[in-house]
Amino acid sequence: MKKNNVYIETYGCQMNLADTEIVLGILQNYGYAITKEIENADVVLLNTCSIRENAEQRIYGRLGNIKTAKKDNPNLVIGVLGCMAERLRKDLIDEKKMVDVVVGPDEYRRLPELIDTAFGGEKGIGVRLSRTETYDDIVPYREEGLTAWLSVMRGCDKFCTFCVVPFTRGRERSRSLQSVVNEIEQLSGRGFKEVTLLGQNVNSYLDEKNDFADLLAACAEVDRSIRIRFTTSHPQDLSDKLLFTIAEHSNICNNIHLPVQSGSNRILKLMNRTYTIEHYLNLIDKARKIIPGVSFSTDIISGFPTETYEDHVMTLDILREVKYDGAYMFKYSAREGTKAYNMQDDVPDEIKTKRLQEIIELQQQISFKINQGLMGKEETILVEGFSRKSDKFLSGRSDTNKVVIIPFDEIIKQGDYAKIKINRATHATLFGELIEKIISEEKFALTA
Ligand code: 5AD
Ligand code: SF4
Repeated sequence: MKKNNVYIETYGCQMNLADTEIVLGILQNYGYAITKEIENADVVLLNTCSIRENAEQRIYGRLGNIKTAKKDNPNLVIGVLGCMAERLRKDLIDEKKMVDVVVGPDEYRRLPELIDTAFGGEKGIGVRLSRTETYDDIVPYREEGLTAWLSVMRGCDKFCTFCVVPFTRGRERSRSLQSVVNEIEQLSGRGFKEVTLLGQNVNSYLDEKNDFADLLAACAEVDRSIRIRFTTSHPQDLSDKLLFTIAEHSNICNNIHLPVQSGSNRILKLMNRTYTIEHYLNLIDKARKIIPGVSFSTDIISGFPTETYEDHVMTLDILREVKYDGAYMFKYSAREGTKAYNMQDDVPDEIKTKRLQEIIELQQQISFKINQGLMGKEETILVEGFSRKSDKFLSGRSDTNKVVIIPFDEIIKQGDYAKIKINRATHATLFGELIEKIISEEKFALTA
């Protein structure tokens, strides 16, 4: 019998990318073939994001396009997965009559059954959240490659007042340490060189007595030639033990994504972020002492309800003070169901845009300066392949997660580590020359 073909598009965060691999793992086990051509699909799935309004708008637009494809193929099953499924099931199924299957982040095991329901002409709906589901035993579908996402915990209990995630992804729960270690062993066997541990708030990881620092150490010890990254950390829970663990393991990258959101204590309080700027800056200082060369990235929201010009200036100040390597910067978007939704969204859109622009420009100047300061320095990069622009150049990433371009050299291949010297830099990219190849097969302890 011909296998059914499934096609999937993924929107939003890295968690969603990891979830897509879990979904494909489940469907492949059930006998589906995976296609990259939407025209060949029997089932089209969109794994969606609700974090900001414009994300949802984009996906609604895409759904409209896909629905027209259904005219040519009436048997086509269209499904919405992820956060929008959780948040907008009624709208998607009843009002907009757009889709046949709606499945939230905790019900992917039921996908084969729910798609079959849709093939039978009914709607397949699974949107219950779970306190225990971690997909611990599911082998995600991953193409060959160097870098892998691996979610180690799901959900979020922080309830930042702007954020829809605690409602769309439910309560925090962690995978077992052993299952994560086993998965990294498999990735090592397949030649992967970098694993990013994912969670909305990885510092809350807990498996019996093992906290996130224990997990990180265990992952780093599986294969010293595999780099370990992790995201996202909440400033409230970043422990000294975690900082020492990063410092002790040369293959745990010296890069911490530590969203600050705002530079104003008054706004942080309204956001329910549970830390002050003073606490945050102390943490940064401490991390810099414990982990020499550590770099930081952050998330910023501009135009949260009641944000004044003074609050905005405090956000610019925090960027100058910390000197982040990079930042994800957003305009505040009111999300129904959150606490902030009940506050008046009183910063006009043009002011939000103007403030965001100032934040972006300042951050670019800071990144440029940091990168200029790297001129003449040595970095260890993992070579990921040819550069996007030309096969005369190779592209890799530094320990601090910066893209580094070097001239092609035949002694270097994809997946090798190389020591390079930086000789040019923009705000987004470093350029360098090869010093030497590092033999990772010999489990060379990578320099931090
Ligand atoms: N509006 C704008 N940005 C948001 N984020 C989360 N919710 C919102 C919202 N309602 C941002 C935060 C978070 C990142 C993942 O997305 O900065 O850290
Ligand atoms: Fe959302 Fe805050 Fe949880 Fe991050 S920590 S997912 S911003 S509620």
